Amino acid sequence: MAHSDEDSSKGTLDNRVICLGVTGSIAAYKSADLTSELRRQGAEVFVVMTRAAREFVGSSTFQTLSRNPVTEELWNEGDGWQPGHIELADKTDLLLVAPATAHSIAQFANGLAGDALTSIYLATTAKVMLAPAMNGKMYQHPATQDNLSKLRERDHLLVDPEEGELACGYEGVGRMASVDSIVAAVLAALA
Ligand SMILES: Cc1cc2nc3c(=O)[nH]c(=O)nc-3n(C[C@H](O)[C@H](O)[C@H](O)COP(=O)(O)O)c2cc1C
Repeated sequence: MAHSDEDSSKGTLDNRVICLGVTGSIAAYKSADLTSELRRQGAEVFVVMTRAAREFVGSSTFQTLSRNPVTEELWNEGDGWQPGHIELADKTDLLLVAPATAHSIAQFANGLAGDALTSIYLATTAKVMLAPAMNGKMYQHPATQDNLSKLRERDHLLVDPEEGELACGYEGVGRMASVDSIVAAVLAALA
C-alpha cells in the first residue's frame, strides 16, 4: 500500500479547504512544513506562489507536500472554463498568507490585483489570515503599519511576527511566527 497512516486518520481540519499564499520572503521554506502540518490536520491545501516566492522555493516542493497543483500565474491556469483563481477563491474556507511580505500586504491593503494571489484575495469571501515576515525596519515602517491596520479593520486575522535574530542580519520584530503558532491560529479560526 502506497498510503501512509495520515490518510486514514481523522484530523481537526477535515473537509476544510485552505488556500496557502506563499510570498517572496526568506521564510518561504517554512511554509513547506506548514503545508505538511495543515494536511496532517486533515485540510485540503492549495498553494499559490508569487513570482518572488519561487526565487526562494520551487513549486514542486509545495505540489508534492500539498498533493495538489500549485497556482503560479494568473494566465493559463486551470483546466475548466472558470478562471482557476476564481474557482479557488470560491472553494476556500481560509486564505492564509504565510509568509506575507511587506509588498503583498501593501497590495492587499490597497486592492491591487496584479497576480494570482492578490486576485484571489479580492475575489474571496473566506476568512483571511496573514503571517507577516520581514526585516524589522520594514515591519515598523509607518507604511507597513498603516497597511496592517487596514487589514485588521477588515477583520483579517494576523499572526504577529516574533522578535529575534532576522535572516537579514538584524535583531528585531519581523521573524515569521512559528509553524506551530500559525497552525494553532488556523485551528482556532476554523474550529
Ligand atoms: C534575499 C531576499 C530576502 C527577502 N526577504 C523578504 C522578507 O522576509 N520580507 C519581505 O517583505 N520582503 C523580502 N524581500 C523582498 C521581496 O522579495 C520583494 O519585495 C518582492 O517584490 C515581494 O514580492 P511578493 O510580495 O509578490 O512575493 C526579500 C528579498 C530578497 C532578495
